[in-house]
Formats: sequence, C-alpha cells, structure tokens
Amino acid sequence: MSLSEKTKKLKEIKEEIIELEESPLYSYRKDNGYFPVIGEGNHDADLFLVGEAPGENEAKTGRPFCGRAGQILDEILEEVGILRKSTYITNIVKDRPPENRDPTYNEIALYAPFLDRQIEIIEPKIIATLGRFSANYLLKKFSFGEKFSISKINGKLFERDDLPFKIIPLFHPAATIYTRSRREDLVEDFKKVKKLLTNNK
Ligand code: URA
Repeated sequence: MSLSEKTKKLKEIKEEIIELEESPLYSYRKDNGYFPVIGEGNHDADLFLVGEAPGENEAKTGRPFCGRAGQILDEILEEVGILRKSTYITNIVKDRPPENRDPTYNEIALYAPFLDRQIEIIEPKIIATLGRFSANYLLKKFSFGEKFSISKINGKLFERDDLPFKIIPLFHPAATIYTRSRREDLVEDFKKVKKLLTNNK
C-alpha cells in the first residue's frame, strides 16, 4: 500500500472513532472536553508501539504518551537510539477510562478492531506492546497463548513464519516509576528492539 493510501485509511479510522457514540467512554470524553487518542507517528513505521489507554494528558491533547509515562518512554527511546517520530504509537483503547482505571473487557473488545486495522495498514515489522493489556490481546489474537504475566515474557520474541511481524512484550513505562529495576529491564528490552530494527534493514 502506498504511503498516501495508508494515510487515507488511517484518517478513516480516526473519523470512525471520533463518532463512536456506542462506546461506554464516549460521554465521559464529551463531558470533559477530551479527545480520543488515535495514534501518531510514521504511517510506514517498522516499529509499532501499543500501550493501554490514554491518561488525562493524552485525552486533553489527543496525543499518545505525552504525560509522565510518555516522558519516560521518550527518555528510553533516546537512550537506545530510536527516533520517536520513526515509530507509530497508539493504544489498544482509544478513549480515556475514568480515573485511569483499567480498561474493561468490553472496552477492549470495542476498540481492538481499530488497532487490528492500524496494524494491517501500517504493516510494521515489530510490534512492541507496552503493558499487559496490549500484550495479552495480541498474543491471544495471534494464538501464542493467554493470560501472560508480563514479568515472565518481557523482552521475549513471539514470531511465526506466517506472520509479517514479530511481537515483543515490554513493561509499561508507568510500571517503572516505583520499581527502579523495571526501568533497567525496559531499557535492555528496548535495546533488543533497536537491534531487531537494525537487523531488519
Ligand atoms: N499510558 C498508556 O498506556 N497510553 C498512553 O497514551 C499514556 C499512558
């Protein structure tokens, strides 16, 4: 698919999510003057990053990972030499859940097809999941298994000949705030991602 076609299809997704009145998070978005957070970055990205759901900063700006977790992500990307603008960053759930609670099963089921389409359009080589929700959704969808604990699988590669991408589950950047050793794990895992990107060239 050409880049302009990709951009056109991603815009269609954006318009559908803006109008997603059936979402249980739609009235919360409207009442608070929030924006849905669709995703941002390179529409031809080799590296696709997928988090959980927007927090308050993200919902106020419409941009993924622009608050505290985003600051950590930016620092680590810089540390390992990955340009944020070369990646595509999104979340599994595109609207902010109230008080940053975990997304529900129904919310994930409603928003995940948009994530599926974003992956199909962008055609990344590597999908790095940030946190357990996106990891468990994608690992189940692509038949790698269910209900993983991230600390058992972080930095492991899930790949198969019939899949055009590899999945690598990572800790969520917010999980590093109170557990210092997790930050080191996340840096080491991002170094693996950087190596994979370089080897894929
Ligand atoms: N946490 C997420 O999972 N996604 C964001 O966009 C921000 C914080």
